[in-house]
Amino acid sequence: MSKKLLSPKFYSEMKNLEPRYPTKLALLLPALHAAQDETGWLPDEILNEVAEYIGIHPAQVREVASFYTMYNLRPVGKYHLKICTNVACYLRGADRLVEHCEKKFGIKEHETTPDKKFTLMEEECLGACGTAPAMMLNNDYHENLDPEKLDKLLESLE
Ligand code: FES
Repeated sequence: MSKKLLSPKFYSEMKNLEPRYPTKLALLLPALHAAQDETGWLPDEILNEVAEYIGIHPAQVREVASFYTMYNLRPVGKYHLKICTNVACYLRGADRLVEHCEKKFGIKEHETTPDKKFTLMEEECLGACGTAPAMMLNNDYHENLDPEKLDKLLESLE
């Protein structure tokens, strides 16, 4: 294989996790998370490197990475907004949040602002139905949102 793109930190994190998993294959999801934390998204070269580390065919890694919406197979902005539009959130105004962001940023879902600052996505249930509508901003949850709260949150970002 060509030069490694993932850092020694990635490999040492995986080494530490290996004893906790029954097989190396079971490490695939954590490995994808760790790789994405390093690179922001998962280009083919990174998926190939993860496949080599796990010891499976790159197509298997691609299948898994493309199944879960939490893995970015395209570049995303510095701030990745994932607004849940599933039933509980929809009933509590998630569609207004999406429209608000589309207007504010001048983009549609799956798009990134030209300055690469914001990416907007609609998401399936985030498991925070009791505090709907919910959104993830990168890896953090924000709940009970409305357009005003969302604006305040966005203003607090650098
Ligand atoms: Fe939105 Fe469950 S429906 S968090």
